[in-house]
Amino acid sequence: MFNQQTNLNQKTMKSPQGQKGPIFYCEDVSVQFDEIMALKNVQLTIERGEIIFVTGASGAGKTTLLKILSGLQDPTSGKIIRPDFFSSKKNLFISNVFQDLRLMGRYTCEENLMFAYDSSIYASKAEFNQDMNELARILGVKDRLHLKINDANGGLKQKIAIIRALLTRPDVLIADEPTSSLDIDNTRRLFDVLNLYNVKRGLTVIWATHNKEFIKSFTGRIIHLDNGRLVYSGK
Ligand SMILES: Nc1ncnc2c1ncn2[C@@H]1O[C@H](COP(=O)(O)OP(=O)(O)OP(=O)(O)O)[C@@H](O)[C@H]1O
Ligand SMILES: [Mg+2]
Repeated sequence: MFNQQTNLNQKTMKSPQGQKGPIFYCEDVSVQFDEIMALKNVQLTIERGEIIFVTGASGAGKTTLLKILSGLQDPTSGKIIRPDFFSSKKNLFISNVFQDLRLMGRYTCEENLMFAYDSSIYASKAEFNQDMNELARILGVKDRLHLKINDANGGLKQKIAIIRALLTRPDVLIADEPTSSLDIDNTRRLFDVLNLYNVKRGLTVIWATHNKEFIKSFTGRIIHLDNGRLVYSGK
């Protein structure tokens, strides 16, 4: 499954340490906006280390579910429980990639990535740069890091948003359809990276998409929403 080029700074990656267990429980979660029920009585458990695709037609409730999981939206009824990060009691660190990407247009791609640097999670700036360069190389954007976001095409912007999210070394990556401008080759490179982080760091991935074609190429759980209801959860 992994791309041959994928050799991401493996020495510095945290071991998943065999940790397992639920990281999110949705208990009978409903979300109402005026007359619209965006989510209806959703029951869902997500385990650490899962790769999940959230599918469904436009308006099915994908973004609303991701916001609930991220803590950006409260349920109208029901509960979302995010247990502490197992015995370590460390808070779960979630990184989001939104549909609108939230990049800074007047800054270069590299400057946007630099915003992910945090001295408490990297032993040195050199270690951060190593991860950044490796991700940029695998995703084929290394020679375009000097471009301003305002001059970048849609695919480059999407890759930069995803690299930035991964550089924060999250426990969970929650992404809302950020691959609409990527062709299948670039999407595969991206999923090679996500799979690598999943295996080496125990990264949990929750990924909303309309695109059934590329889901077919990857292993993971599919959660299908239909008009606010969770109607399918399985491989
Ligand atoms: N802030 C809001 N105020 C009012 N209605 C909303 C709001 N957010 C979402 N909705 C409605 O809730 C329903 C679910 O929306 P949601 O954005 O979660 O769907 P989605 O599956 O992400 O759709 P898309 O594929 O178009 O992104 C839709 O009918 C939408 O119009
Ligand atoms: Mg959406």
